[in-house]
Amino acid sequence: MAVTQPPDNSTQSNYAKVATEHISFAWTIDWKEKKIAGSATHTLRAKEDGVKEIIFDTFALNVKSAEVEGKAVSYNLGKHHEVMGSALSLPLPSSLQKGSTVTAKVEYETTLSGQALQWLEPEQTQGKQFPYLFSQCQAILARAVTPIQDTPSLKITYDAHVSSILPVLMSAKRVSPPSSGPPHGGKVIGKDVVTYVYKQPTAIPSYLLAIASGNVHYRAFDVPEGKEWTSGVWTEPEMLEQAHWEFKEDTTRNLALEESVIMPYKFGVYDVLVLPPTFPFGGMENACCTFLTPSIIAGDRSLVDVVVHELTHSWFGNGVTAHSAHYWLNEGWTTYMERVLLSKLHSEAERGFSYLIGYKALKDSLKEYEDMPKYQRLIIEMEVGEDPDDAYSQVPYEKGANFLLYLESVLGGLDVFLPYASDYAKTFMGQSIITDQWRDHLYNYFRTRGMDDKVKALDTVDWNAWLHGEGLALPVENKYDTTLAKPVYALAERWDKARGKDVKELDFTDSDVKSFSSNQKVLLLDTLQSYQPLPLSHVSLLGSLYGLDSSGNAEIRFRFYLVALLDPSSDSSKHYGSIAAKWVVGEDGSGVIKGRMKFCRPTFRAVYKVDKQLAWETWKKSKGGFHPLAQKMIEKDLELA
Ligand code: BES
Ligand code: ZN
Repeated sequence: MAVTQPPDNSTQSNYAKVATEHISFAWTIDWKEKKIAGSATHTLRAKEDGVKEIIFDTFALNVKSAEVEGKAVSYNLGKHHEVMGSALSLPLPSSLQKGSTVTAKVEYETTLSGQALQWLEPEQTQGKQFPYLFSQCQAILARAVTPIQDTPSLKITYDAHVSSILPVLMSAKRVSPPSSGPPHGGKVIGKDVVTYVYKQPTAIPSYLLAIASGNVHYRAFDVPEGKEWTSGVWTEPEMLEQAHWEFKEDTTRNLALEESVIMPYKFGVYDVLVLPPTFPFGGMENACCTFLTPSIIAGDRSLVDVVVHELTHSWFGNGVTAHSAHYWLNEGWTTYMERVLLSKLHSEAERGFSYLIGYKALKDSLKEYEDMPKYQRLIIEMEVGEDPDDAYSQVPYEKGANFLLYLESVLGGLDVFLPYASDYAKTFMGQSIITDQWRDHLYNYFRTRGMDDKVKALDTVDWNAWLHGEGLALPVENKYDTTLAKPVYALAERWDKARGKDVKELDFTDSDVKSFSSNQKVLLLDTLQSYQPLPLSHVSLLGSLYGLDSSGNAEIRFRFYLVALLDPSSDSSKHYGSIAAKWVVGEDGSGVIKGRMKFCRPTFRAVYKVDKQLAWETWKKSKGGFHPLAQKMIEKDLELA
């Protein structure tokens, strides 16, 4: 069936008329000036006759010169749009015909006004000796790294030569110096310039372009026999041992399992890079090299689900890529599959438990968007220039995963659903698609196999409610396995009932949570948030008795503060407001900014509700240490922007 894809309203580029197929980057990392300087040479193909210009997206780039087919051209850099940046247009030879290729080279530099790159001072790293640089291009910031047609509807290959005095990583395969050789090709780190060569022969969407440079070292994971990929971890030497231990089992095991369920891994390399704590996400599925927050190095592998999530994107997102408005196809599918792996490697109870924790996050997101019901939808049609960062929430993840879980049950369970999922991935591998293409394939999969009962089952689905529905409820509630949640709910209820009693009379002990996993503590705190606020005396006891107020696991710690700050005008809030504020900016002795937005944004928002002045003052002092993206979002949260 022919499906026409709508335009991507977040790009100003003319990718439908002439489209980049390959980019060659030649970059130098200038640590003194904090910029990447060099060139991007695009090979483009005309999609129609007589295209007059190439339009790239740029964001706060300093463009120096441009060439088309090796000849200097006069280019035009359009007016800066706050979200979309400036359109850069280069004239094309008038004779260009549909199907023919053309090269275009732009010399440029990045600037500090772009939000894709964070430049860290040595003090902000583990080693405190060398500076550090990393990119975050999703959703639409590849354009702040290079002129590019910045849309997930287009896929490109690339190669890169990057010179730096510190080791360089990219979302591609290392050509030289070899990853497994001596760090920095045996040269002196921090002093000698080494040119790193990378190649990404598999076409990827622009948001997967990534670079990092710093004192990062490599340690390989053992890979099951017969695999054609390698896998390992990169991080500063101070963290290498811990990071390797944390991920060495689950990374390769889950990658291999995903291969057996879906299809072979096709990027050749699956590495993870553990970044400094200002990294604003839990993980980012950059091709060949997932970027990770160090906050998931818990020492007990309790937070490895983030890696499982990111590696799952290799199929759902990086392989089959969603058109921007259909972003749920990336995150919903990935969240769903991540939990399928969980059920296979652990238990159905674990899968259900994961959905329960996600459910609370979904409800919170839906509530937050009560004034913006459009963002409660699975498919979000973005206006031209609308900021995708404003639409970012748990909705595509959790509504999406619940939708697929619902379809799984409608179709008769995993035995039916997983072979279909595999066919879906194989069918669209390498393409960018919209929801209609996904649904057409779903129907066709069962229709062409003569499985009429399944087709009938699909006809019972309220597609419109799932895909375009707003509001706080799911069209259909799924039933989750609650085995692991039951003891948690029982304990939460005991606390709820204890609220009226004097704290001295309470019979809670630390053994209440002795058998609890970290995730069960997470659910305990989530559940307490759904009750009336507890008095300060009880919150203090809860925090100290179970070690929640001092937990090194940020998933637990920030939720404890949310419980403590539940009623902004309470004594509990007065007491814990400043403690939470100190924690989030690392003034409590932990010395580390909690840069992952999942932790810092809700914490700042909660403190803000308690004491605006405190939130603003805390922010003013520490803002500079946060990632540009986190800065942008927190300033919105604190009504400063
Ligand atoms: N691709 C996302 C991160 C992202 C989304 C960055 C949109 C920028 C814009 C990544 O795969 C992700 O979902 N990360 C989660 C991990 C979690 C769901 C396990 C995160 O960072 O919290
Ligand atoms: Zn994701």
